[in-house]
Amino acid sequence: MKERIIVGNMKLGMLKEDALNYVKKFKGEYRNVVLCPSSIYLNYFSDMKVKLGLQNVFYDGTLCTGEISSSQAVSMGIKYVIIGHSERREYLEENNDIINKKVKDAVKHNLGILLCVGETEEEKEDGRADGAIKRQVYTALKGIDNIRNVVIAYEPVWAIGTNKIPTVEEIKEKVSLIKRVTKELLDYDGIRVLYGGSVNEENVEQLNQIEEISGFLIGGACTNPKKFEKIIKIINKR
Ligand code: PGA
Repeated sequence: MKERIIVGNMKLGMLKEDALNYVKKFKGEYRNVVLCPSSIYLNYFSDMKVKLGLQNVFYDGTLCTGEISSSQAVSMGIKYVIIGHSERREYLEENNDIINKKVKDAVKHNLGILLCVGETEEEKEDGRADGAIKRQVYTALKGIDNIRNVVIAYEPVWAIGTNKIPTVEEIKEKVSLIKRVTKELLDYDGIRVLYGGSVNEENVEQLNQIEEISGFLIGGACTNPKKFEKIIKIINKR
């Protein structure tokens, strides 16, 4: 059975002391974990036995104060980047075209891309979820030769940080939609899809039984090293 990918999105969840403590308390060695701390703390995390990623990346060739480019990421040995997280779509109005440029540039630099897609609560209630997801996947990935570098995280926006999760059936449906879109519209068979949104120690066992997913993107629950390691061990037990 293929090892699952586990991504920890630490967001803004830590101050300097918390980051230093985290590194002390997180003991294990996990080849399949990509931890994405705030970039200002990356150095503290560099000796950990996990992979490191960025929570965002910008495209090269445009000066944009405050951002980090794909080539800078590569020059620091970073191998993975999250692109298109719903919080960036919402608060920074990051749209599918910007996301497409970021993905293109990151692919060019051979970075592993964790592309986030997912419907809002409103889209779900109005029956527009599938259309929104289809558009996000297609627009983000159009014109990209090397889709092999991309893993999609299906993260329903209404499930992020809310303790609500979709049913197993709903997750399977959306994963199959994403696979269909990449196959039929982008001519790429075999896209890997993660699930993200309120994954925690209580629900991970059940979610981990879904064969169609290739892993998880975990936010809140990854900022506590003990809890996160417990979750990783549950996932890796299968
Ligand atoms: P959550 O966040 O696990 O806290 O819901 C997931 C995410 O935003 O990627």
